[in-house]
Amino acid sequence: MQSMYGEKRTTMIDHGALALPPERVIILDFGSQYTQLIARRVRELGVYAEIVPYFHPLDDITRERPSAIILSGGPSSLYEDGAPRITADIFDLGVPVLGICYGLYVIVDAFKGTSQPAHSKEYGRATITIAGDSPLFRGLDAHQTVWMSHGDKVSAPPAGFAVLASSDNAETAAIGNDERRIYGVQFHPEVHHTVNGTQVLKNFLFEICGLRATWSMKSFIDSSIEAIRAEVKDGTVLLGLSGGVDSSVTAVLLQKAIGDRLYPVFVNNGVLRKNEAAQVIERFEKHLRLNLIYVDASKRFLKLLKGVENPEKKRKIIGREFINVFKEEARKIGSFDFLAQGTLYPDVIESVSTKGPSDTIKSHHNRVPEVLKLIKSGKVIEPLKELFKDEVRRLGQELGMPDELLFRHPFPGPGLAIRVIGEVTEKRLDVLREADDIFIEEIIRAGLYREIWQAFAVFLPVRSVGVMGDKRTYENVIALRAVTSVDAMTADWASIPDEVLKRVSNRIINEVRGVNRVVYDVSSKPPSTIEWE
Ligand code: XMP
Repeated sequence: MQSMYGEKRTTMIDHGALALPPERVIILDFGSQYTQLIARRVRELGVYAEIVPYFHPLDDITRERPSAIILSGGPSSLYEDGAPRITADIFDLGVPVLGICYGLYVIVDAFKGTSQPAHSKEYGRATITIAGDSPLFRGLDAHQTVWMSHGDKVSAPPAGFAVLASSDNAETAAIGNDERRIYGVQFHPEVHHTVNGTQVLKNFLFEICGLRATWSMKSFIDSSIEAIRAEVKDGTVLLGLSGGVDSSVTAVLLQKAIGDRLYPVFVNNGVLRKNEAAQVIERFEKHLRLNLIYVDASKRFLKLLKGVENPEKKRKIIGREFINVFKEEARKIGSFDFLAQGTLYPDVIESVSTKGPSDTIKSHHNRVPEVLKLIKSGKVIEPLKELFKDEVRRLGQELGMPDELLFRHPFPGPGLAIRVIGEVTEKRLDVLREADDIFIEEIIRAGLYREIWQAFAVFLPVRSVGVMGDKRTYENVIALRAVTSVDAMTADWASIPDEVLKRVSNRIINEVRGVNRVVYDVSSKPPSTIEWE
């Protein structure tokens, strides 16, 4: 697998349009599933944090002058062949270090302590007993509930390090060298099952490193605007706007920075939801005062989709045509200096843990070859690329954008084309749009919209028999899909109350011509997917 790290991170961290906050934490990623959580927790505490792979060159770290370094956990044991290791010189930078789980063993190894595979592994909740008076555990009671996951144990802490805590399974659950400000913990302070984990992180950042909580969305906006201006100068920026959260927030941020030198292009691909094009135009032109370039290419897309039933073919046709339309519009505008994208942090960071499902399932649609070429030549601006989705929503709120836009359910690029099963026709799209609109309206009315990750209707190209009045009908089926999820990697079907489903079904059958049956999809992901195609 090709690593984004390998491509872009050979020298300095590529910050693109982002000014470096003066105080920041570098997290060296050893592949833990919790690495991103560490970054989030640190930022929630008001300190900017970013993740780099464990093999990020020492020279670069030296140049970047971090205020603190955190060594993440990882799936490996130090005793496995090829276990990730770092140069011990990192500890000579004079920067405070906190090693978490695997990070603890990295410290023990570097300072010539000893560790070994443990007889009994420790996973899940555990109680540690704190010894002594380390600043790392300041303000905490002697017994603490923590979250462990380790198969090794420290048998002898390195010289100069005190044992700061122990658990039933690990005599050494935390070590520290106050003078050098280097600490290691066996447990995961970033996980909420570690009851006082936040306090441990606070102690490290504020007591030990002496940082101040100055990072906030407001400061992010100010520094981003400044950085965008410095980069774009009096140039122009082209942006593909879908009306979704990420591209919309990017548009508003860029507009604040460079005003009408931003060219947001919104392409109607003919497979948008009911009234969607009109809503996006109204929202962006009237309320957010953007000079939207609206391209109605629906006829082109629908013509290409004619007769196509295969889901992958539909996706490819739409993806390819979108690039064609976008390029044509760019040519019409004339030359532009930069391309902007609403890329988020999880889109660019590939965890070193290549076993995670995210690596195989997630396709980096903002990293197609043409875009990569532009990135190499410094022509791409991605102001959100250090942020998580919930941070982007908060950023949008800070920018004064309406919640109704910021909390919209995700909508796939291929749109309704992958929700009309089989061939996509105007008639089927119309039926689906009406049914989908009723479903969403009722979900909003029932106050369920926010707790549901995604809800939508699917048009099934099968007909079933029904009876309406005294007449026999033979019409199409609409499937309703609603799921709960945290990241779309896994999902459960949502338990929508009976009376809501009843109302939706009644309304669809009575109000949408061509539908006489409504079914509810009760499949989880995996093994199903959220979309049907
Ligand atoms: P699946 O169906 O794979 O979907 O469980 C996971 C999430 O991704 C969305 N999705 C897409 N988003 N382009 C997108 O921008 C696509 O081609 C695409 N396919 C699926 C889907 O709606 C869900 O949120």
